[in-house]
Amino acid sequence: MALKIIDYNSTAYKDMVALRMEILRKPLGLTFSAADLEKEKDDIFLGAFDDEKIMACCVLTKMSLSECKLRQMAVHPSMQYNGLGASLLHFAENVARDAGCKTMVMHARKTATGFYEKQGYAVCGNEFEEVTIPHFEMRKLLF
Ligand SMILES: CC(C)(COP(=O)(O)OP(=O)(O)OC[C@H]1O[C@@H](n2cnc3c(N)ncnc32)[C@H](O)[C@@H]1OP(=O)(O)O)[C@@H](O)C(=O)NCCC(=O)NCCS
Repeated sequence: MALKIIDYNSTAYKDMVALRMEILRKPLGLTFSAADLEKEKDDIFLGAFDDEKIMACCVLTKMSLSECKLRQMAVHPSMQYNGLGASLLHFAENVARDAGCKTMVMHARKTATGFYEKQGYAVCGNEFEEVTIPHFEMRKLLF
């Protein structure tokens, strides 16, 4: 499995959006608008590839000089619970560090908080709703 940074609007980016649609949006009856995708054009896109096929992805948004937000973390159902999510998350943390970030923050789905806790993230604050489902803010200091 190759972990790579993906260019916005490239073929790999379009494949990544399709994966995000399938895993994160469709089950909630939601989609991405052209405006949603335009808004993320300056973000950093990461993918795990088996040959050319994207099997997992996430997005980093730089919130300030020292803080990155992790978004859109998704692993193909055929690969879940095989360590791929953890590998991609560690890659994302390294990319965030290289971009000067000292903290990673995210809005984690309640169902995924256990995964992030295993990777050293801590819940901050109360449960809230986003994309129709419960979430928690989670954070980790990147050393
Ligand atoms: C959540 C997700 C990204 C995790 O990726 P993954 O590749 O399945 O996870 P890994 O195999 O790397 O798991 C690493 C550890 O976390 C655990 N884990 C994985 N998903 C978990 C979850 N939802 N809750 C609790 N623990 C979880 C694994 O059992 C493993 O534990 P171990 O180290 O003791 O063996 C992936 O399952 C997924 O895409 N889920 C659907 C979409 C989603 O919820 N995305 C997150 C949005 S915030």
